[in-house]
Order: sequence, then structure tokens, then C-alpha cells
Amino acid sequence: MTQRTLVILKPDAVRRGLIGEIIGRIERKAGWTVPALELRTLDRQTLETHYAEHVGRPFYEPLMGFMESGPVVVLVVEGERVIEGVRQLAGPTDPIAAAPGSIRGDFGTVTRENLIHASDSEESAERELKLFFPSL
Ligand code: TYD
Ligand code: MG
Repeated sequence: MTQRTLVILKPDAVRRGLIGEIIGRIERKAGWTVPALELRTLDRQTLETHYAEHVGRPFYEPLMGFMESGPVVVLVVEGERVIEGVRQLAGPTDPIAAAPGSIRGDFGTVTRENLIHASDSEESAERELKLFFPSL
């Protein structure tokens, strides 16, 4: 089942020089490829659309501030079961709960600064791919 998913390496990952490390883990999965990739600073409007499901939650405003605090890497990952697969590589939202060996488990301590976003379902992937790579 070949799929596409939308991944964001968050500002903490870029600031800490972890772009290569994280993309390396993704690229090493058999058959997975990166058909699109870009470094950009996200604007408020894009972030509001992306995180619309979280409006009103106590972490929403700090999350917005963090996500616009510096450049991110947005990328498309394509391959066998990438939607579930990249979520597994990332680990759970809270990095302390994430197992060693996962990206969040190896590099994170704080829930807000958890290094990576990955689409959580086929529906999210379709919506997020359109939002970040409308021409793809
Ligand atoms: P969510 O979609 O629940 O997590 P995930 O990124 O694993 O899909 O939340 C989106 C982001 O919001 C999450 O990556 C980090 C931030 N966040 C907080 O800062 N505090 C929280 O309590 C939660 C649930 C999320
Ligand atoms: Mg989510």
C-alpha cells in the first residue's frame, strides 16, 4: 500500500542541527523516498489551518509561537505504509513517554518541542499535503 504523508521537522530540530539525522532515519526505511522537501518559515495563516483541530486548547498559543519561531523543513515521504510508519518512527507526542529508538524518544524532553510532525491518517495526509505542497 503506497502512500504519501506530510512531515515537518520543527524549529527545534532545525536549530539543533538534527535535519540530517531525522531524514536519514526516514530514508533508511526500505523503499521510502522523499519526493519533495523545502526549508521555510511558516506563516500564522498556514499554521492556523494546519492546527485547526487544536484551537482553544491551552497549548495552542504557545504551540503557534513555537512553530513560527524559526525555519522548519517540510517534506513529503512516499512509500509502503508511510502514514503509520513515520508516526511510529516519531513516537508519541510526549517525548518522555516515547521509547528510546524513536525520534522523540531519542532527542526530546518537552512536549511542545517534540521535533517532528507527521500526518496521523489518510484524511490528514491528504489535507496537509494540499496545504503545504498545493502544486504536487
Ligand atoms: P497532537 O496533534 O496532539 O500531537 P502529534 O504532534 O503527536 O500529532 O498535538 C500537536 C502538537 O501540539 C504536538 O506535537 C505538540 C503540541 N502539544 C503540546 O504542546 N501540549 C500538549 O499537551 C499536546 C497534546 C500537544
Ligand atoms: Mg496531531
